[in-house]
Amino acid sequence: MCGIAATALKPPYRKDTVQLLINLLKALEYRGYDSAGVAVYDLDSGRIHVWKKKGKVAELARMLEKVRLNASSGIAHTRWATHGPPSDVNAHPHTDCLESVAVVHNGIIANYKELKEELIRRGHRFESETDTEVFAHLFEEYLRTSEPFEAFKRAVSRLEGYYAIVAITTKDPYKVFFARKESPLIVGRGIKGNFVSSDIVSLLGVSEEVAPLSDGDVGWLDSEEIFVESEGKRKSLSFFKPSWSPAQAQKGSFEHFMIKEIHEQPQAVKETLTSVISEWEKVMEVVRLMEEWTAVVAAGTSYHAGLVFSYLLMKLSGRFVPVIDSSEAHHYSKVLRGTVIAISQSGETYDTLKAVRIAKENGAKVVGIVNVVGSTLDREADVTVYTRAGPEVGVAATKTFLTQLAVLGVIARAYAGQSKEEVGAAASRLPDIVAKGISMSIGYAKELSRTLAEKRDMYVLGTGVSYPIAMEGALKIKEISYVHAEAYPAGEAKHGPIALAEPGFPVVIVWTPEDEDKLSVAHEEFASRGSEVYWVGPEKDIPFPKVEWHEVPFAATPPLQLLAYYMAVRKGLDPDKPRNLAKSVTVH
Ligand code: F6R
Repeated sequence: MCGIAATALKPPYRKDTVQLLINLLKALEYRGYDSAGVAVYDLDSGRIHVWKKKGKVAELARMLEKVRLNASSGIAHTRWATHGPPSDVNAHPHTDCLESVAVVHNGIIANYKELKEELIRRGHRFESETDTEVFAHLFEEYLRTSEPFEAFKRAVSRLEGYYAIVAITTKDPYKVFFARKESPLIVGRGIKGNFVSSDIVSLLGVSEEVAPLSDGDVGWLDSEEIFVESEGKRKSLSFFKPSWSPAQAQKGSFEHFMIKEIHEQPQAVKETLTSVISEWEKVMEVVRLMEEWTAVVAAGTSYHAGLVFSYLLMKLSGRFVPVIDSSEAHHYSKVLRGTVIAISQSGETYDTLKAVRIAKENGAKVVGIVNVVGSTLDREADVTVYTRAGPEVGVAATKTFLTQLAVLGVIARAYAGQSKEEVGAAASRLPDIVAKGISMSIGYAKELSRTLAEKRDMYVLGTGVSYPIAMEGALKIKEISYVHAEAYPAGEAKHGPIALAEPGFPVVIVWTPEDEDKLSVAHEEFASRGSEVYWVGPEKDIPFPKVEWHEVPFAATPPLQLLAYYMAVRKGLDPDKPRNLAKSVTVH
């Protein structure tokens, strides 16, 4: 949900500022691609230059190809529109009346209408419809009577809502000012200078060490120093070296990040399993916490991982834990107690964090299943178990899903009383199953995508453990190929969904050995009405290896991801940047 990046570079590198900011924006683009913009303070002309444009970063990059200003500070933004439609004028950065301030923002300023009216009464002129522009004018207002950092803090103190906000001003052109409340911001120290950004991935190539900011932090950086205050007191940050390498966040020879990340799954699952099993004490701590009432909260793909976990746990141990969609979790606040397991690859999903905060208010212990070390969920959870997927750049979650299943499978087995050795033995087959799930299905998925890409609607059916996998497959198809795919339990179809069955209507059935009859009956019901029925399963239309029921998620997920991927590619769509979506959903 909007990507922010800013820097102050040391003197020898200042002419690289604009190009470096463009590179950071390219890495952040998965957070929004409605528009992109850059503002820098140019020491030679003594003013702030702003460039911004509706559309993708590549268009802005073309426009700025030759720009090499001697910049002491700069900010950049890629937008996922909330207030005001995507347009050049609504693109960030926003400036004040005097062009003495430029601001980028991620989040929502809830009281922007009142602030805007107040500022208009004071004579400020507004250009855009965004909530962000009020901050530029507020900062301008306080700069009349206060030193820049004081003015910035006074402006921040007027904001209601949530934000990551970053600004530069002509009044102190060597500094970048920043503040965070419930939207991620990370600072980074590098050889060329200092940085602040919405995520660690964008900082990989430029920062040796990073430190996430916390809610309420406000500060500034210049090329030498990073200064942060919390509740009016100077705060020392805990910097760490990111474990991800810059190369991991590159496409390499693949056409898209999504296909690269699908292919990385066997290794990602392997690394995750090795890591989680080696931290057996932590697994047992989670098991002990689960002796209390336990609920799971998660969104989107992570929610589907939660459903697989709940099913596995119930089958292996008889224990049932509810899985609550994070966006609905506040309605279920009474059951967010005991132990709450929050699953989130980014660790920044607003709805999931909100559920976690409700749980903590209720006195619950929180277990986070997280891919991003240092993310907000990681820091707020009582215990974090990491997935080791590496950076996931494609907006649609792929490898993070299977690594979540790997972690959750270990926890479910440990809860069911299996020893470390037993869990290790069961886990050892999984990376190979994933690899075969990819290699056996890829050609068939590509071929079937030819037919399915032409369709408007389709069903994806499953039963038992293959039902949440059907849900995940339908989500992938919907979000990247824009074909309306809905998942149902196979037996549920006859209670309504079958009304859509007619010649040419496609149905994909996800095999599991648990109840093949149920799946075959659904097949007959649809086929007899002329529907086109395709199976994903051993020796089926899209094949994967014959596996035990509990291994089905690892075998069946890659074929469905590949189907979605090739459907999108056939339609000429960019699977890495599906319309209206952003990787990290930090708004409510
Ligand atoms: C779907 C997808 C989203 C995320 C959801 C939760 O491909 O990526 O549905 O799964 O926004 O994100 P995290 O896991 O970061 O909390």
